[in-house]
Amino acid sequence: MIPHLSERALILAPQGRDAEIAAAMLAEAGLTSLACRSVAHMVEELEAGAGFGLITEEALRTVDLHPLARWLDAQPEWSDFPFILLTRRGGGLERNPAAARHLETLGNVTFLERPFHPTSLISLARSAQRARRRQYDARARLTELHALAAELERRVEERTAERQIALEQLHEAQKLETLGQLTGGVAHDFNNLLTPIVGALDVLQRKGDGADARTTRLIGNALQSGERAKILVQRLLGFARRQELQSAAVDIAELVGGMRDLIASSVGSPVELQIRCAKEMPRALADPNQLELAVLNLCVNARDAMPDGGLLTIAADTALLGPGSEPRLPPGLYVRLSVIDTGTGMDAETLARAVEPFFSTKETGRGTGLGLSMVHGLTAQLGGAFALSSVPGEGTRADLYLPVTEAHPEAAASQRGKGALLPTRPLSILLVDDEELVRRGTAEMLRELGHRVTEAEGGAEALQLLAAEPDIEALVTDYKMPRMDGAELAARVRRARPALPILLISGYTGAADPIEGLPRLNKPFGLSELADALRHATEPVDNVVALRSHRQV
Ligand SMILES: Nc1ncnc2c1ncn2[C@@H]1O[C@H](COP(=O)(O)OP(=O)(O)OP(=O)(O)O)[C@@H](O)[C@H]1O
Ligand SMILES: [Mg+2]
Repeated sequence: MIPHLSERALILAPQGRDAEIAAAMLAEAGLTSLACRSVAHMVEELEAGAGFGLITEEALRTVDLHPLARWLDAQPEWSDFPFILLTRRGGGLERNPAAARHLETLGNVTFLERPFHPTSLISLARSAQRARRRQYDARARLTELHALAAELERRVEERTAERQIALEQLHEAQKLETLGQLTGGVAHDFNNLLTPIVGALDVLQRKGDGADARTTRLIGNALQSGERAKILVQRLLGFARRQELQSAAVDIAELVGGMRDLIASSVGSPVELQIRCAKEMPRALADPNQLELAVLNLCVNARDAMPDGGLLTIAADTALLGPGSEPRLPPGLYVRLSVIDTGTGMDAETLARAVEPFFSTKETGRGTGLGLSMVHGLTAQLGGAFALSSVPGEGTRADLYLPVTEAHPEAAASQRGKGALLPTRPLSILLVDDEELVRRGTAEMLRELGHRVTEAEGGAEALQLLAAEPDIEALVTDYKMPRMDGAELAARVRRARPALPILLISGYTGAADPIEGLPRLNKPFGLSELADALRHATEPVDNVVALRSHRQV
């Protein structure tokens, strides 16, 4: 609306010189006006803008008022257009039913009875103009309010969407957490049961000289199954974040470089392998063996997604995460290890479920559905994150975010490969485990290695035996036991006999490092692993060397 139009008076007084006189009176007081020829003309001018209307009663008598009534009805919520109606002498409202009807049509009307003094008209005109200005103010505030309301609505929508995403993420995380607890519990018990089975089979196989070919084959098969069961259990424990991790400062470029041949032979020739590592990356905190396993799982997935060949890229660089960036991790520097393929990719539904344990689209017997679960669990347990993205028909990208560490690489040489059993001096060993089956199995293995074994089923009994039998030369104890756990037992034994070598056998501790500096052996284990661990525990120089479990590929 043009500003000078919004203040003007519109006069509707078709008879004689009425309009002219009224305009002159208003002009005298500095008010602009326009005389309208008809109701239709007035409505036209109202559209353009006006401050108030001045109408004579006669002007309304015989004409069709509908166009004006329609315009008045359609006024926006802030507008209540003011009119001054000039009535006939003696035409006060109480004695003038026609004027009363006009009140209904026009709404906001002030009556002025003729004849009147010009000052009366001017004073009414000014107050009508003031009323109109207040309406304009209201319009301005309403516009502001509308803008605010729209902004508010936008924000509410934005927040609702954010909340929805957060809820979905939470739901996803809770689902994985619950599944983790469930599988973790089962895997832990299963791992315990597997210990004497694998141990006994190992002893039988190594003793196999006298056995017939069939027995040897059967034992071999059973051991193979045992090994597969071990891998399965490790993956389950990995997903449940209950792995016994041997974390160290790892040079990712070196680790990936060292895997080149293994990966190339695993994915086969139709797949081109490309390795791209950034120079001078900081070291990542990770368990190198488990990390290799994770990378291999991802490469095998990539191979399966590229049956007719394609490009497999393994890339490593650093990623700086800020507050609110994806993945949701504490802000800081991370090493990002990516496995990227140009394979089939995944649709949204598969992608959403890919990390779930036992979710596999591979035919029965071909996939355990635990590969990605293990990778997810491992990165989470290391304090990092795992992100998976995929476009059907284009390929898949898996990113492992690993926390950066200042520490220097671990000096310990990893204990890889099942070497021949190195001879150890026969020792008198005190073996503590609350589970009889497991204890008996381990005792049998220790005897097989040439040691003398005294068994105890708990910490209290072990302490008594140690006090009673001073010739005991080493303590081998389970970690998780009721009443007194392996850590507490070790601490007490250290006070009583500081020089006594201690080997801790653990399935899962929950803590990253139960006792600083204590040699550990992960369940389940074979004869050579037990022999190695014992040798390290009893050779004082190597006491602080953390033992790594065998590569479980
Ligand atoms: N790189 C990939 N490209 C396309 N689909 C993939 C990829 N990686 C995983 N998937 C999908 O996610 C599912 C789960 O993967 P995961 O590694 O957990 O189990 P799996 O590969 O089926 O079994 P396993 O790892 O025991 O061989 C796969 O079955 C497949 O459908
Ligand atoms: Mg897989």
